[in-house]
Amino acid sequence: MCGITGYVGKRNATPILIESLTKLEYRGYDSAGLALLKSGNFNVIKKTGRVASLANEVAKKQIDANIGISHTRWATHGGVNDANAHPHISSDGKFTLVHNGIIENYENIKNFLVNQGYTFASQTDSEVLVNLIAYHYEHRTSPDTKNRFTESVRKALIHIEGTYGIAVLGKDFPEEIVVARKGSPLLIGVGKNEYLVSSDVLGFAGRATNVIYLEDGQIASITCDNCDVITMTNSPVGIDIKEIDWELENADLGTSKTYMQKEIFEQPKALENAIRGRISDDLSTSVLNGLNITPTELRQFDRILFCACGTAWHACLVAEYLIEKYARIPVEVEYASEFRYRNAPLDKSTLVFVVSQSGETIDTLQALRESKRKGFKTLAITNSVGSTISRESDGGLYQYAGKEVGVASTKAFTSQIMICLLIALYIGRMRDLSFSEGREIVKAITSLPNAIRDILKLAPQIEKIAKKYSHYNDFLFLGRLSEFPIALEGALKLKEISYIHAEGYPSAEMKHGPIALVSPECPSVILANDAEITPKVVSNAQEIKARSGKIIAITNTPELFANIADDIIAMPNLHDSVRVIATTIPLQILAYYIALERGCDVDKPRNLAKAVTVE
Ligand code: G6P
Repeated sequence: MCGITGYVGKRNATPILIESLTKLEYRGYDSAGLALLKSGNFNVIKKTGRVASLANEVAKKQIDANIGISHTRWATHGGVNDANAHPHISSDGKFTLVHNGIIENYENIKNFLVNQGYTFASQTDSEVLVNLIAYHYEHRTSPDTKNRFTESVRKALIHIEGTYGIAVLGKDFPEEIVVARKGSPLLIGVGKNEYLVSSDVLGFAGRATNVIYLEDGQIASITCDNCDVITMTNSPVGIDIKEIDWELENADLGTSKTYMQKEIFEQPKALENAIRGRISDDLSTSVLNGLNITPTELRQFDRILFCACGTAWHACLVAEYLIEKYARIPVEVEYASEFRYRNAPLDKSTLVFVVSQSGETIDTLQALRESKRKGFKTLAITNSVGSTISRESDGGLYQYAGKEVGVASTKAFTSQIMICLLIALYIGRMRDLSFSEGREIVKAITSLPNAIRDILKLAPQIEKIAKKYSHYNDFLFLGRLSEFPIALEGALKLKEISYIHAEGYPSAEMKHGPIALVSPECPSVILANDAEITPKVVSNAQEIKARSGKIIAITNTPELFANIADDIIAMPNLHDSVRVIATTIPLQILAYYIALERGCDVDKPRNLAKAVTVE
């Protein structure tokens, strides 16, 4: 949610900043802008729309500077227009800033600054902060204040309520960028005679091999050959430099048309990566060292709570089925945004998991902190090595699905389910599951990537179905038991990228409301791959058919739907433990082709952002 970048070094900052912004565009794409500092002057160029429009504008100006900051925006305060685009300049012209986050008390501060004579050109909360920095520079520091730039920023930030990742340039400091974070990610890439700043490793675009993850409450002063970090109370902080694994961070589009297509087709590989080194054939179980918890400790827990947002929350719902079925431990699933404010009573023997692809979603991060504050062991499942959630959790498992860039999550979702299945197997084998049951699951897990490769071959058939249904404006997605969360995810995928209204329901529950929507104008996508319940789902399909509703059945018993469904996507028979991962694939492909058919930008759907770092 908003991406910020910065560069200070010996090279021309412009192409570096533009490339970084392009890589961070998944975080927001309402507007983009950059500020360069050259010969004591700011050159600020900003534009509504995508980074590509900014790049055209910047190319016309040809400014060659060695220091600059830039921003790609997901609007929170103030409409989508040029004036509200970042960077913002203080009204005295001395500072310019890019900001990711929300300043909650901006109105009070703005009133104070207006009384002090500062003026505002935008409706944003961020412009308030740059003026507050200017105020502290002017009135609360003197020319002989040590590190006056950093000190002005620090003093201003003391008054800020809310969240921020910021990068600031000062006219009187032609060689320095000051950055700070609280709640929003901020990384400093360490190069040779240069430093980069970014909201995400991806923004370094391969230019840095080492990274400093700024922690909440830290401020850094960066020049081309030095980086000093202090706390909000002005104490120096030792710098911890980590190496970047660029193999994991690689996000080239290759020959794919879109990131979403690429990521859908990468799922066999992503699943293999999730499994690699985590299966013991000898013991018929999984090996999960990252959990950082001994079997004896694990046995003390008799309840598991999962917290997440969006698609990750759907993965948690699947985890509930898997863990309750195989490990026989009660599982609860909470929206992270609700959990953090709900003060839910938790038994002391509860183990908490947070699940987040990006590892930066603010609500999930706050749920993690709340749970840790209450003294619960809190583990994380995330796809982002070094992310804030991975750093702050007590342990956890990386997904290793590879960078996911498409805003609608695909490979991260199936890989999250796989990790949850590994957890179910691990705890299950400590409790209820026999060696031979464990062996069946291990077999199913290891053969799943190839089964998914086969399912992906259905893409041309699904594309045809998508073309047939792309003009409908309402859809129902129905599934039972563990296919219910998959129905929710199928509906979300379609909604996110094609702007079609879609609802997911347990098939039988359809009778208690959604059936009122059933008509020739509202097709239903029915999931029926669980033999135990399929006859019931067939009855639900009949009820839809009786009301002239169109049906797309995704089923491993196509013969049962031959006279009911208008279209059938035939699925293989897979072991119960992995079936839902497979069922997800045709839903992703269906949503993808419907969105393409409607001319939608599948990688950057309107109003959405990939990493939601504001509340
Ligand atoms: C945003 C994305 C979703 C994602 C959700 C949670 O809404 O658009 O695709 O599922 O955030 O993200 P996380 O990174 O925490 O899994």
